[in-house]
Amino acid sequence: MTDVQRGGNEGGGLGRLFLRKSIEQVQAETEHGGLKRTLGPWNLILLGIGCIIGTGIFVLTGQAAAQHAGPGIVLSFVITGVLCGFVALCYAELAAALPVSGSAYSYSYVSMGEIVAWVMGLLLLLEYGLAASTVAVGWSGYVSSLLSENLHIQLPPELLGAPGEMIKNKAGEVIGTGIINLPALLGILVVTMILVVGVSESAAANNVIVAIKLTVIIAFIVIGAFFVNPENWNPVIPERIEGSADEQGRYGFRGLISGASVIFFAYLGFEAVSTAGAESRNPKRDMPIGIIGSLIICTLLYILTAGVMVGIVPYTELDVAAPIAKAVDRMNMPWFAIAVKIGAIAGLSSVMLVLLFGQTRIFFTMARDGLLPRAFSTVHSKFRTPWINTLVVGFAVSLAAGFLSLDALSNLTNVGSLMAFAMVCFTVLYLRVARPDMARPFRAPLFWIVAPAGALMCGWLLFELFADPESRAFFGLRFTTAQFFAAYLAIGMLIYFGYSMHHSHLGKERRMGTSRIAPSE
Ligand code: ALA
Repeated sequence: MTDVQRGGNEGGGLGRLFLRKSIEQVQAETEHGGLKRTLGPWNLILLGIGCIIGTGIFVLTGQAAAQHAGPGIVLSFVITGVLCGFVALCYAELAAALPVSGSAYSYSYVSMGEIVAWVMGLLLLLEYGLAASTVAVGWSGYVSSLLSENLHIQLPPELLGAPGEMIKNKAGEVIGTGIINLPALLGILVVTMILVVGVSESAAANNVIVAIKLTVIIAFIVIGAFFVNPENWNPVIPERIEGSADEQGRYGFRGLISGASVIFFAYLGFEAVSTAGAESRNPKRDMPIGIIGSLIICTLLYILTAGVMVGIVPYTELDVAAPIAKAVDRMNMPWFAIAVKIGAIAGLSSVMLVLLFGQTRIFFTMARDGLLPRAFSTVHSKFRTPWINTLVVGFAVSLAAGFLSLDALSNLTNVGSLMAFAMVCFTVLYLRVARPDMARPFRAPLFWIVAPAGALMCGWLLFELFADPESRAFFGLRFTTAQFFAAYLAIGMLIYFGYSMHHSHLGKERRMGTSRIAPSE
């Protein structure tokens, strides 16, 4: 019996929602997907690093230290690094067994069924699409810092922030109120055009940008170490102050955890390696190497960078758009400050590109399954890219970048990603029980501890994000993170029941009593 038939028989009408693709079908789609298998282990590690190092370390670390954790931000990085380590082991197990381009969406489709895959698609839209907007806002901060402080070109502050956002200068004084973040919006539109014509596939270009980014970060750590004043690390965990910083309080142990829930964003990207499963030369061996290798390298760099940053600048002064640049200014090496900003701008561009690329490929897979309109999987005759998909995604992401604050964007991205990560941990657990026979070229070690611990830690940080009582402006309406997320999921479910459920290819096959797939069991 095929998995399609089994899903339908299991639950009558409701069983329709839990239709599953068979593992064999997903593997066959990958085999015949037509993508070239060119990426080796180092390409995959560099792809991961290219996507991981971005706005998180270049911008959010400073804010998280100033508002939440103080010098303890280093410990927040350790906590989040451990969490991502658990999740990475789960991703590695799935990515090696199912090297497909739809990543977690495809894993859910084979394990828990269509409606869960749809929810995963909604979460991935936050994890990739909204993350690209978040990175664009960080990129805009470094661009305007380079323009105003080094090239003496001051853009009107109204064009540098989301509506209502206070725009500050280097000294921290308010110089205006934002109307639109124009550089962020334009940055995404340029990346969109690059993706439409298809330059993204150049692994060589990615490698060069990653090399620049790594050089900047390592130089910051090595040179910055000489400028550290150990007094600034003292106390590592500042005494707790109740009732400020979003009314959740600042510092203390709780501050370490809320700091971790903010800088979690810095780690996103290791899982993007799994979207290249179909293009990997030897996915069974190289997927785990790419995912876990890039995560380990970035965790070490982050802990060192954060330690040096709060060692050079007292943490209370780090709540600025370009905190690493601020730390470099204290070193009195103007050339190095310019090099860091250029490195950050180049590095953040590549993160935007990889995230937007990942988002379009996930929508591409969902459209091929019938859950999104066919236009999303239409390939341009000359450029061979999903151009309509890319234009729609790019336009929406650029609006979010232009009109939402960094805080609102990063919070929502983190909520979506933590939930997606928790679901990946559950998927691994589920498949170990339901399909013990599945070929697993990589098995997560200490699995019965790793997968539940990963899911629980995601839940812990989610709780911290949902507990945030501050309401933020979303296109003129004010919502807390929890309210916005609930509204987002509700709209997503309406689309599923109004459109996707009726157009799903798997659903149609079931209605017609046919299946594209060979019987698997
Ligand atoms: N981890 C990536 C960043 O920090 C998404 O920009």
